[in-house]
Amino acid sequence: MATNRTFTMIKPDATGAGKTGAITKMIEEAGFKIIAMKKVWLTAELAGKFYAIHKERPFYKDLCSYMSSGPIVPMILEKENAVEDFRKLIGATDPAKAAPGTIRALFAKSIDANAIHGSDSDANADIEGNFFFSQFERFEK
Ligand code: RTP
Ligand code: MG
Repeated sequence: MATNRTFTMIKPDATGAGKTGAITKMIEEAGFKIIAMKKVWLTAELAGKFYAIHKERPFYKDLCSYMSSGPIVPMILEKENAVEDFRKLIGATDPAKAAPGTIRALFAKSIDANAIHGSDSDANADIEGNFFFSQFERFEK
């Protein structure tokens, strides 16, 4: 069953290039409501915890150092069928393969510096949102 929430982070290449506003504008214009948002700079250790699911993958170490190389903007988003629709909005992991008009096609520089993250399931959206936002914070209804 599709829930109505997903989790995203604008990655260091896009925050560093001054694209936070352009990307959040695209997200809102695609019908997603921003429920929670902040700007933070992860340590490599925290990035490693977030991406623990990829621990055995060859790109894990590069991913952790990249994701701690500059500020990121994590957000919880709400929309019907949020997880699937958001993955469509961001496009394929490799920007060279991302469909025209998607966030990665427009803003990503490479498969590593690929501008934005999107949760791949309802369960992971919940886990990832809880990683950055405390259950004690009050979110917009
Ligand atoms: P994300 O989790 O960031 O939304 O990206 P994704 O689902 O499209 O891709 P995933 O397989 O979850 O990989 C997480 C991030 O690791 C980097 N990656 N590099 N060099 C490579 O082959 C490779 N594969 C993945 C990417 O930055 C990807 O977003
Ligand atoms: Mg992923």
